[in-house]
Amino acid sequence: MIRTILITAGPTQEAMDPVRYLTNRSSGRMGYALAREAKKLGHRVILISGPTALPPPKVNQLIRVTTAREMYREVLRQARRAHIIIKVAAVADYRPATTYLYKLKKGKGSLTLRLIPNPDILAALGKRKRPDQILVGFAAETTQPIRHARTKLQKKNLDWIAVNDVGRPRLGFESPLNQLTLITRDGITFELGRAQKTILARRLLKTILTIPLNTHPLKS
Ligand code: PMT
Repeated sequence: MIRTILITAGPTQEAMDPVRYLTNRSSGRMGYALAREAKKLGHRVILISGPTALPPPKVNQLIRVTTAREMYREVLRQARRAHIIIKVAAVADYRPATTYLYKLKKGKGSLTLRLIPNPDILAALGKRKRPDQILVGFAAETTQPIRHARTKLQKKNLDWIAVNDVGRPRLGFESPLNQLTLITRDGITFELGRAQKTILARRLLKTILTIPLNTHPLKS
């Protein structure tokens, strides 16, 4: 069955002034690999991407955004059409309280930056989720990845969460390699292994497209 799959990828950038911004580490590789593989499997793909240096994959619709608030608006607008939503983007949790219109000049002493929270896009999607929609989050953790991911899964009302331990060298951010564990809302875990992001993307899609929730007997 052909599905409409909405994928977010890359970081967001939160401007402090015209030359400086806050951001999260993300090259866009993991999200772009998922978008490319979903398209190869024959699905309709909407990709909402933060700024990356990568050439984008061929998808049905590509929407470029810069800030978390732009991503929030676009994701909520497109989510109505999606059967599956996969939130790979590394969204900045905070933004500067003030964005200066001119370059802040360097002073002699320290500079205190006040940050305010950005909207949590995934939590907003979890609140609005239709019964026929599958919502997949990602968790980038450096300590106790499975424990933190389970908390996110429940708090944000997700169906699946893909956990990567970004504390390990040469895996996760920017690297062509990653290691993923998928957890269902029923608490069942699937080890997708350590591999190229393209291979993991295909494994992830095949798992969420074929395993019905609530009924699968496997547990690890
Ligand atoms: O882009 P690459 O270099 O290939 O790296 C891939 C990756 C490591 C960035 C990717 O695999 C990954 O883990 N993405 C999620 C990063 C992240 O923001 O994790 P988090 O644990 O902080 O957030 C949990 C989930 O909430 C994520 O699905 C995130 O998209 C979402 N979120 C977070 C904050 C926010 N304000 N809104 C959100 O929707």
